[in-house]
Amino acid sequence: TRVAVLISGTGTNLQALIEQAKRPCSSAEIVVVISNRPGVQGLKRASLAGIQTRVVDHKLYGSRAEFDGTIDRVLEEFRVELVCLAGFMRILTGTFVKKWNGKLLNIHPSLLPSFKGVNAQKQALQAGVRVTGCTVHFVAEEVDAGAIIAQEAVSVLGSDTEESLCDRIREAEHRAFPAALELVASGTVRLQEDGHITWKSNS
Ligand code: GRF
Repeated sequence: TRVAVLISGTGTNLQALIEQAKRPCSSAEIVVVISNRPGVQGLKRASLAGIQTRVVDHKLYGSRAEFDGTIDRVLEEFRVELVCLAGFMRILTGTFVKKWNGKLLNIHPSLLPSFKGVNAQKQALQAGVRVTGCTVHFVAEEVDAGAIIAQEAVSVLGSDTEESLCDRIREAEHRAFPAALELVASGTVRLQEDGHITWKSNS
């Protein structure tokens, strides 16, 4: 499956996906990495892995629709079949999400539906939960509300700061996102028209 990864910064999730796609058993081939910001570390990671990169700088576009339209053209140029949002910090328009419905994955640093939105790790700390985690889900028009593909739980320690919790959740992300990518790229998991996940039975 031809995969695009969209990033905005460091790209540690991208790095985990690159490692996964390299494995001989992987159903995924990352064909392009697109960043909405120039010069970020994630772009270097892609180049080092021999993956083509594109920068679509959102500051150069007058509207979300025009920005999303350019992203869409790059995806079509590379004949992309599956898109992973890996630390991608832009909200995509409904038109784009509808077109890529069932082919758009995002990682969120909490156990959705808890702690939607920004600073999910900080929300968990402030709520005093003892377990949080990360979620990989299909992107739906409502933010952080699409069908869940994979999750990993992470304990909150009494000694945790926002930084230490973020680090521990990110380690879980680097396992959950590659696992979710394989499930969808291999066709094991797909999104039904009614918005629910179906798992292909091996029987
Ligand atoms: C991560 O904390 C992840 O939870 C969020 O984006 C942040 C940066 O990820 N989705 P990365 O290191 O750029 O992959």
